[in-house]
Amino acid sequence: MAAKKRRRKKQARRQSWWQRTPGWVWMLSAGIILALVGLGVGGQSGRAASSIDPSSPVLVAQGQTIYTETCAVCHGAEGEGLVGPALNGSAHSWHHMDNQLRSVVRDGIPNSEMPPHGEHLTAQEIDAVLSYIKSWWTPEQRRMQRTGRHPMG
Ligand code: HEC
Repeated sequence: MAAKKRRRKKQARRQSWWQRTPGWVWMLSAGIILALVGLGVGGQSGRAASSIDPSSPVLVAQGQTIYTETCAVCHGAEGEGLVGPALNGSAHSWHHMDNQLRSVVRDGIPNSEMPPHGEHLTAQEIDAVLSYIKSWWTPEQRRMQRTGRHPMG
């Protein structure tokens, strides 16, 4: 009799908070942790494997800083064009494929005022600045730039 009572008491005590927590709470927590880990890894690989991505807030913010410090003086604060042509989509910068844009920024344009930037910007930084520039373009311009299909001009 006494032993039975003790066992029941023991069992109640053993039901600790983590046993009373429903399964879905655990699933949800696991999901959130996985998502956070995924984001961290994704963000890091996005930075390491340099890529142009106007939908990445990290790249666009980084690119904006570089653009303002390096390019705005000639291309305008909002890419509207000044000494150099507009880069905001109103001119034809989006007619160049990614690798052309990269080499223009890296090597400059000979016999023009567009200077090379490969000495002081890494490939990753050039991709960040191009991500920022592309964030000005319409989805239509981005699509045409990606496929290389656009009206000549
Ligand atoms: C000293 C002025 C100057 C600076 C600084 C400068 N550019 Fe330029 N850029 C020009 C000029 C001028 C042209 C046009 C050259 C030509 O085709 O005759 C040009 C052309 C370009 C083009 C080609 C545009 C097109 O429609 O063909 C891109 C892209 C570009 N610049 C990006 C950049 C980026 C990104 C930066 C900053 C990292 C930058 N430029 C900094 C003056 C500059």
